[in-house]
Amino acid sequence: MFVVLLGLAGADNYVRPPAGRSLFVSHDHSKTSSQQVHISLAGNAQLRISWITDELTPSTVKYGKSSGVYEALMNGTSSSYRYIIYKSGQIHEVVIGPLEPSTTYYYKCGIDSSPEHSFRTPPAQFPIDFAVSGDLGQTEWTKSTLQHISKTDYDVLLLPGDLSYADFYQPSWDSYGRLIEPLASQRPWMVTQGNHEVERIPLIHKERFTAYNHRYHMPFEESGSSSNLFYSFKVAGVHVIMLGSYTDFGPDSSQYKWLESDLRKVDRKQTPWLFALVHAPWYNSNSAHQGEKESSVDMRNSMENLLYNARVDIVFAGHVHAYERFARVYKQEADKCGPVHITIGDGGNREGLATKYKDPQPKISVFREASFGHGQLRVVNASHAQWTWYRNDNAQPDSTWFTSLASDSACVV
Ligand SMILES: [Fe+2]
Repeated sequence: MFVVLLGLAGADNYVRPPAGRSLFVSHDHSKTSSQQVHISLAGNAQLRISWITDELTPSTVKYGKSSGVYEALMNGTSSSYRYIIYKSGQIHEVVIGPLEPSTTYYYKCGIDSSPEHSFRTPPAQFPIDFAVSGDLGQTEWTKSTLQHISKTDYDVLLLPGDLSYADFYQPSWDSYGRLIEPLASQRPWMVTQGNHEVERIPLIHKERFTAYNHRYHMPFEESGSSSNLFYSFKVAGVHVIMLGSYTDFGPDSSQYKWLESDLRKVDRKQTPWLFALVHAPWYNSNSAHQGEKESSVDMRNSMENLLYNARVDIVFAGHVHAYERFARVYKQEADKCGPVHITIGDGGNREGLATKYKDPQPKISVFREASFGHGQLRVVNASHAQWTWYRNDNAQPDSTWFTSLASDSACVV
């Protein structure tokens, strides 16, 4: 059930900003010092810490509950990759834990002269706060989005694909890592990949997702998946499924089989809320990326029944550079037991906003606006969550309450 608290008043007078130029964030520390630090959830009470050094250094993380006092030390691994003439720095990753919930830890990556960072672990129980932002890129608009997110007290960030917009120019991946470090080193950033992560060049670089897979190792092993391109995780009372729009999703694919088995394992008593993220939206009334068969329509036709039968509460997508919130839907019609679909591809990348919409607005599209912004989802308890979309340029939000399908007796399977 939706309760729309604030509507569109005044939105028509808003002058939408143009696309922003890409920034480049350089590194001003030594070649052995940690940079591009980011963290992600890695199974039960553990976090994966990832960072890059220009030169070979130890893959160790020291951490503790007081600044400068490190009670624990964990070792990990490092790797690098080549992309045409580019050779990446040393990409380190270390899994640390067990960690206590809702606790701030201080940590240092690699050598002692690296800077100290801190993070806060997510809570063990409700309430939990998510920040949601897709198609982020690295422009002034991205900086604005990150500034807005940094002012909120979120626990975990969800990113439904299109991260750096490096688009084959690998140093831009490093720049992006530096841009997001102040946030991504403090809270787990859980991401899935978009079309801008593919980076395949026929005959020249045949492998897909090379930079993404090396730089953003998500907990796929921990969730029984065979690929970094699809995985799931549990946090507080929420089960989150990350899907890949640009890898096989048909009934014979490993992604489909993994999704079936992952959904079978979901216990709604333990995780009353069930979310999914995918890059290319299955529902979209914007003119941009309309009806893209390979990534949106075919994937929806293949997998929508799995998500519907499992009573997934919300599906977040990106790809379209705008915000749109749909009603609960299934097979393109309103359905009280279907997921809410939300497109949140308005993080701020250099391609700009997708401002043209299909007219008239379909009945299942509740709110749509082409402005840069981000979303916040506060899951208050097992049955209620508040969703708010904030436009970067002012405080006029789209805000609504969701009720979990696990708590809706009409939808219990
Ligand atoms: Fe995209």
